[in-house]
Amino acid sequence: MSERDNFGSKLGIVLATAGSAVGLGNVWRFPYMTGQNGGAAFLLLYILCILLLGIPGMISEFIVGRHAQANAAYAYDKLSRGRPWRLVGYLGIFSASVILGFYAVVAGWCCQYLYAAISGEVSGDADYVRNYFATFSSNAWQPALWGVAFIVLTHVIVVKGVRLGIERASKWLMPILFVLLLILVVASCSLPGSINGIRFLLMPDFSKLNSHVLLEALGQAFFSLSLGTACLCTYASYFSRQTNLLQSAGQIAVLDTLVALLSGLMIFPAAFSVGVSPDCGPSLIFITLPNVFQQAFSMMPLVGYLVCILFYALLVFAALTSTISMHEIGTAFFTEKFNLKRRYSAWIVTTATAILCVFCSLSVGAYPDLQVLGMSLMDFCDQMTANFMLPLGGMLACLFVGWYVPKKTVHAEFTNEGSTNQRFYHVYLFVVRYVCPTGILLVFLHQLGVL
Ligand code: PHE
Repeated sequence: MSERDNFGSKLGIVLATAGSAVGLGNVWRFPYMTGQNGGAAFLLLYILCILLLGIPGMISEFIVGRHAQANAAYAYDKLSRGRPWRLVGYLGIFSASVILGFYAVVAGWCCQYLYAAISGEVSGDADYVRNYFATFSSNAWQPALWGVAFIVLTHVIVVKGVRLGIERASKWLMPILFVLLLILVVASCSLPGSINGIRFLLMPDFSKLNSHVLLEALGQAFFSLSLGTACLCTYASYFSRQTNLLQSAGQIAVLDTLVALLSGLMIFPAAFSVGVSPDCGPSLIFITLPNVFQQAFSMMPLVGYLVCILFYALLVFAALTSTISMHEIGTAFFTEKFNLKRRYSAWIVTTATAILCVFCSLSVGAYPDLQVLGMSLMDFCDQMTANFMLPLGGMLACLFVGWYVPKKTVHAEFTNEGSTNQRFYHVYLFVVRYVCPTGILLVFLHQLGVL
């Protein structure tokens, strides 16, 4: 346990938790999910899921983590006094590791684009940009190597304890990313025909709604908040006694949703303008963005060039603060459970996730036959975690806190020993006991066709 305190600063903690939430989930996954699920109607459901299920779920994980002051599995174990609730912790650790495997593939793509931005390789017309992605991603080893390199970089940061430095840097870099997103939103909206993209994102067409869209919105909400992976629980174990859990959950959710919205406003107007189909899937941002840099800044090519580099660099950074959190979950678990040195437990996580990363990368590139249930391995990992494991993990966390953990403990954590948030305590309790579990269960049953 002695290594827990390397992460004790209050500022570092909240930044770290926000850093975990804001990442490729917002900039890459949110636009492509919205594009595939019909636009504004999906966005509406997504926001509902964040408010009704996401924020209460986050608070529940915070309560478990901060009360137990231990890695996710041990936290559930400690609070449930040996009952099988510890499986919720294991489920979270497993989900986070699977996510790290495929997330690193996309982070690797971002690294390649950063490299290409610097060497000026990625500029050309819309067809060139599309082909660039297709050629690069179908190469057998290059994308896989970028992905593995990204995991190794994460490993080094998690082990060397320079993580606090990274989180401190995010205090400066995240606001820059935010401003840059704003600039790119303006640039994208100024392209000819962009109004159709704005309409797509903001004017709901309710005929697009069905049970699958609902499930995808739920999965995206949980993925984006890092909820259901025990990640929030692990980070909360480093929170101070004064951290206001309700306020922190609210702030992180608002920030996270804002970044997602800005990303949508950056991508769709440009996609409609240059004729990229919004439902083209995971490649959406990679085949859309380079057009923005080029076309919107055609009068100032140098500015376009620099903005492009800065954007990919910040994206890589945002991805890194998220992969650190996924890696940390497994590393903290092995360290504390088996009394291993942090270095060794980190290697276990790195090796397992790097292998998964290579197979995921191959499944969307050179070896499309690597399929599970008719999907590429990468899609399968993505769908299985976001649409099933995370909502399940979040639901169990709510049930655990709502029904099992002694009320005295929940009250003490939620109100910081009675000093704040008294008014909301009963609302919270009602929501985690009834609203969240039934809400998530209904979405599952609806998707299975039972309802
Ligand atoms: N929330 C992160 C993102 O939006 C992804 C993530 C999922 C991080 C689960 C940790 C755990 O990019």
